[in-house]
Amino acid sequence: MKTGEVVLLRTIHRRKVKEFITTVSSEGFHSEFGVIDMNELLDKKAGDSIESHMGQRFIVQYPRLPDFFRHAKRTGAPIIPKDIGMILAYTGINHRDTVLEAGTGTGILCMYLGSIAEHVVSYEIREDFAEVARVNIQRAGLTNVDIRCGNIVEAIQHLDEKFNVMILDTQDASAVVPYVRDVLAPGGFLVTYSPFIEQTGAIRKAIDEVGFFEVRTIECIEREMSFSEKGSRPATIRVGHTGYITIARI
Ligand SMILES: C[S@@+](CC[C@H](N)C(=O)[O-])C[C@H]1O[C@@H](n2cnc3c(N)ncnc32)[C@H](O)[C@@H]1O
Repeated sequence: MKTGEVVLLRTIHRRKVKEFITTVSSEGFHSEFGVIDMNELLDKKAGDSIESHMGQRFIVQYPRLPDFFRHAKRTGAPIIPKDIGMILAYTGINHRDTVLEAGTGTGILCMYLGSIAEHVVSYEIREDFAEVARVNIQRAGLTNVDIRCGNIVEAIQHLDEKFNVMILDTQDASAVVPYVRDVLAPGGFLVTYSPFIEQTGAIRKAIDEVGFFEVRTIECIEREMSFSEKGSRPATIRVGHTGYITIARI
């Protein structure tokens, strides 16, 4: 491993996984399990283990996007992986695509988009949130994501770029829809994500006024199964509702 690389340290404590994301440096990494001399990581590779001064053993790995989802510093509530999966699958975002997104929030959706698309532009109205997202995205090793501070309702009216997909996770998405046609490449997709049905209704009305093909609104219900010696069944605690996803194509 090299200085500056971001690593995931995982250990088991009282039968539970405990994990930390940190950067390889010459400093010590401090946690409730003692201090790890980060210099020792220079002689390690993914899958090796390292011990804290208190004798707690950690496995060293490179973090992946679900790890950043759990550990990134949060501002707004991020879109969760089940919904990200739906957006990626139904738009077919790929390595040739440029994607426009708003709002950036924590930057979780941005990271997934950046790991697949050629280029991502994301607008965030709050500079303090934009700065947190930039740090999160840089830690994830992505260099193709451009976080711009601004109000998407105004910014979209001055954009002279074209995008294959545009994704809106803002309360005012319906006010952006009238301008989306001007920035989408032929055959491009608009995706909106809203927690409330009233917002979704306003978005559908705005979409109908613009005139898109193939408009659909979906909700993804994820049901985890619980396995134990007593028996197996759907888990009693689960995510109820997250948001409605509307997908439209020009
Ligand atoms: C729910 S969060 C987005 C979370 C993000 N999708 C993620 O996965 O981390 C919504 C964000 O949109 C921003 N926002 C709200 N209205 C906006 C607008 N008109 N233009 C740009 N950003 C906006 C908010 O400040 C907030 O950070």
